[in-house]
Amino acid sequence: MKIETIRNFSIIAHIDHGKSTLADRLLEYTGALSEREKQDQFLDKMDLERERGITIKAQTVRLNYQADDGKDYVLNLIDTPGHVDFTYEVSRSLAACEGGLLVVDASQGVEAQTLANVYLAIDNNLEVFPVLNKIDLPAAEPERVKHEIEEIIGLDAHDAVLASAKEGIGTREILEEIVKKIPPPEGDPTAPLKALLFDSWYDQYQGVIILVRLIDGTLKKGDKIQLVSTARSYEALKVGVFAPVMREVPQLSAGEVGFVIAGIKDVADAKIGDTVTHALKPCTTPLGGFKEVKPMVFSGLYPIDTSQYEQLRDALAKLKLNDSSFSYEPETSLALGFGFRCGFLGLLHMEIIQERLEREFNLDLITTAPTVVYKVHRLKGDVISIESANQLPPTQEIDYIEEPFILASIHTPNEFVGGILALCEEKRGVQREIKYLTPTRVMIIYELPLNEVVLDFYDRLKSITKGYASLDYEHLDYRRSELVRMNIMINGEVVDALSLIIHRDKAYYRGRDLVSKMKELIPRQMFEVAIQAAIGTKVIARETVKALRKDVLAKCYGGDITRKRKLLEKQKEGKKRMKNVGNVELPQEAFLAILKVE
Ligand code: GTP
Repeated sequence: MKIETIRNFSIIAHIDHGKSTLADRLLEYTGALSEREKQDQFLDKMDLERERGITIKAQTVRLNYQADDGKDYVLNLIDTPGHVDFTYEVSRSLAACEGGLLVVDASQGVEAQTLANVYLAIDNNLEVFPVLNKIDLPAAEPERVKHEIEEIIGLDAHDAVLASAKEGIGTREILEEIVKKIPPPEGDPTAPLKALLFDSWYDQYQGVIILVRLIDGTLKKGDKIQLVSTARSYEALKVGVFAPVMREVPQLSAGEVGFVIAGIKDVADAKIGDTVTHALKPCTTPLGGFKEVKPMVFSGLYPIDTSQYEQLRDALAKLKLNDSSFSYEPETSLALGFGFRCGFLGLLHMEIIQERLEREFNLDLITTAPTVVYKVHRLKGDVISIESANQLPPTQEIDYIEEPFILASIHTPNEFVGGILALCEEKRGVQREIKYLTPTRVMIIYELPLNEVVLDFYDRLKSITKGYASLDYEHLDYRRSELVRMNIMINGEVVDALSLIIHRDKAYYRGRDLVSKMKELIPRQMFEVAIQAAIGTKVIARETVKALRKDVLAKCYGGDITRKRKLLEKQKEGKKRMKNVGNVELPQEAFLAILKVE
């Protein structure tokens, strides 16, 4: 294949602006999708992704396209995940391309996420051109949005393609733009092999599959390849492309994108960003910028039914096969028994994993409130990293504690600025900048402690702005803070799963709020239940759940048996999510009440 006829590109878009729908159109138009494969949104593979409408795992397809100039082109569409939690994956996928389509919803405009990803693309020297999608909507304002793209991003948008991925408008124009505007890759097919590993996953039947973009050299079935970061060698058992289903090819050469199956046992060995080369004739300068991704948010996962512990462990091991950014280790809680402490890239990543465990593996779980990684400087001079209140050393051993800060960019219509500023201040934020991008759109930049953001920041932001604001963040640094451990006690017993690390100034207020919330959530029992919040030995708040006196069924006057049965069933349903702490039954909501404190 001639390198001049290859185009490697990504679609950059804010969530819901139509990336997957447009990708489907391109597949369909170029004939890559047969009728049978024409499920809605081929690129979002997993059911869960389809249901939630978000792309998790990057996926790449090859399209064959005959352009107006009469030449046959090979277009490699590299799909990127579109959420803040997966920024590193996005940046590696972008590094595999020469160009990007910036898809902007013509009825919405530029959002924080769009900006973050466009800047990533520009940093990777991609040729970016805008496409205005959803022009079929009556609310579409292409002229305003073009203006926004020019003002905010600085891209020329006067001849932006007007498209409707839904109705198939503008598809051919987009393909022509890809061919004309995006430069072909450069590279030397005769040089030693140098390829970027930009995605990897575990396939039940084939083992680890890696996606590579060849920078230089060629790669054939049977070649002995090496991964630079681990210096491990493997034999390339299969080499091919997704078109859109897996198809083996005789070889891949400089500029091309494809998959390799090489008997790699563990996805953790196929790290995104790594360089693939030939074991016998390695390239002299591997690609730079390789980075380990580390979990930033942690939460405890416990089976409600203790007999599901083994099942949970197997399920976690299976998920880990496919996602090396997720981590877990056994943990025991006095209140919840045996479970696991799991690490995630961010909140969305956490939600996805929890949901998959419950849905795909049929597990009923109790999840504890998410926490971040704190650095505890001890008086004896060392520093330890902890991810839960229970790992905190005794107060007398602690010199000081540091917590992670993020730099958050919030993009919002101007009428919500006041509410957002109040929220950021409440969350201990430090204001950096308020920028009017246009007379009606504002970008607010704040330094915020991640610990406050993992609690309920995102939900609050969405409710303050009626869903109109978008948030993007990057990790900034660690800062010294006045942090203390707050315990929740039920009838005098500390519920370790409810302990949290919190800023001293907020402890009193939150403690009070939390116990009153718990009071509402804990069902009345046969005896009185005292709920207390304490810092060290000092109780800062207390509530009491009165003892139950009447039989619940007494409510069902008369002999309406169906109603009675319904009530009993409802109770049984509720039971499923109960966990005994001492002799008190706590519902799952109690463990999450920490999240919902306003
Ligand atoms: P993520 O996968 O979450 O990043 O979202 P996405 O950007 O891939 O968006 P997706 O393609 O899933 O589209 C989001 C919603 O917009 C879906 O309900 C689509 O049907 C709808 N949509 C996409 N393109 C168009 C369009 O051109 N017109 C209209 N009216 N709706 C569209």
